[in-house]
Amino acid sequence: MTTTSATTPIANVEVSIKSEIDIINVRLKIRKMVIENLNFSPLYRMHTLTAVSELTRNIYKYAGIGKVIASIIKTNTGKKGIKIQFIDNGPGIPNIEKAMQPKPVTQYHTGMGLGLRGSKNLADEFDIKSKIGDGTTIIWIKWER
Ligand SMILES: Nc1ncnc2c1ncn2[C@@H]1O[C@H](COP(=O)(O)OP(=O)(O)O)[C@@H](O)[C@H]1O
Ligand SMILES: [Mg+2]
Repeated sequence: MTTTSATTPIANVEVSIKSEIDIINVRLKIRKMVIENLNFSPLYRMHTLTAVSELTRNIYKYAGIGKVIASIIKTNTGKKGIKIQFIDNGPGIPNIEKAMQPKPVTQYHTGMGLGLRGSKNLADEFDIKSKIGDGTTIIWIKWER
C-alpha cells in the first residue's frame, strides 16, 4: 500500500507521548476528531481506535517517547479520511518484514494483541519507515466509504 498524494488537511491534532496515560489521551482526542469530522460506522471507529492504541503503545514501549499527529484529509476528488502519523526517535525496527509476520498466539501480550500486522490490516493505506538508531514513522490512513 502506498500513501496518498494531493490531499488537503481539514483538522489536525498533535499529542506527545511521554507516559502510559498518553495512550488514553490520544485515543480520546482522535475519537472526538473522528466523530466531529467523519461519517465512520461504529466498526470503522473501532478499527481506527484499535490501531491508535496499538501503534501508540509501541511508541511508549519501544521508544519511550514520541508523538502522534492525526489529520482529517480530503482528496481533490472529495474523498475524506483520517491520516495518523506515529513518530518516534527510538531504536528503530531492524527487520520490518519480520516484525510484520504473524505471531504464535502465546506471543500476543500487549493491548488487543493486534500489533503492527493487525494495525496494517485495519488501514486502507499503511507505510512504515524505520532506521536503526534513528526511529520509526508509521503512516496509517482510513477513508470514508
Ligand atoms: N515504534 C517502534 N520502535 C521500535 N521497535 C518497534 C516499534 N514498534 C514495533 N517494534 C518492533 O516490532 C515488533 C512487533 O511489534 P508488534 O506487532 O506491535 O508486537 P509486540 O509489540 O506485541 O511485540 C516489536 O516486538 C518490536 O520489536
Ligand atoms: Mg505492539
